[in-house]
Amino acid sequence: MKLIITEPRDFDAAAAREIVEQIAQKPDTVLGTATGNTTIGLHRELVRLHHGGGLDLAKVTLCQIDEYVGLPPGHAASCCTRINEQLLSHVNIAPENVVFPHDAARSPEDVCRRFEQSIRTRGGIDCQVVGIGENGHIGFNEPGTPFEATTHMALLSARAAGAIARWFAAQAEIPREGITMGIKTIMLSKKVLLLAKGADKADIIHRSLFGPVSTDVPASVLQLHPQMVVILDQPAAARI
Ligand code: F6R
Repeated sequence: MKLIITEPRDFDAAAAREIVEQIAQKPDTVLGTATGNTTIGLHRELVRLHHGGGLDLAKVTLCQIDEYVGLPPGHAASCCTRINEQLLSHVNIAPENVVFPHDAARSPEDVCRRFEQSIRTRGGIDCQVVGIGENGHIGFNEPGTPFEATTHMALLSARAAGAIARWFAAQAEIPREGITMGIKTIMLSKKVLLLAKGADKADIIHRSLFGPVSTDVPASVLQLHPQMVVILDQPAAARI
């Protein structure tokens, strides 16, 4: 495990540096992305480097880790909308090189199968970025998810549903399910970049990196990954 601890103001640049190095080594990198608060600044930094620093993403494939089930295209809450707004609409990743676990015209089972197939066809994920929930979830893999799970439909936790509640007029409209890369899918990535910032993540980061490897804390499985890079800001690293 490579552990990088930064000042909060340097966090996004440190995360972007890992991705820039990855793309320099392999311009046709298959990059797994996550959407949450943690990665907003990373995406901003990648856009900045694309416009001002010569970062070329023309050969990169983007695979989004998860998506809510049942949202219409362009819905403000969807991961697709967020990654489009934060990254894709500002950089030169080709539309045919964007892989999402979403297709309203297909059954969820078919979406999962085709998503796994797309990853395999592209030679696997080279670098998967993951954020972490305060209970240790990664993607929509909540505590209890088997480590052998590949891409699947998962019930959203109350927390995950609550995080998008502001975009819905009524509770009943909030999606109850999401499609997520499974833990096995994430573990098969050649490299995993775990990002966490803020004091709220300090306990779970300590448990995930140094506690027992257990499905009770999904992120703890990353201890077993041979190429794991962890970037924390100082508040998130407070218990290390
Ligand atoms: C989002 C995702 C989630 C987040 C996690 C952390 O695509 O996969 O697992 O990474 O919930 O969220 P933030 O970054 O908002 O703390």
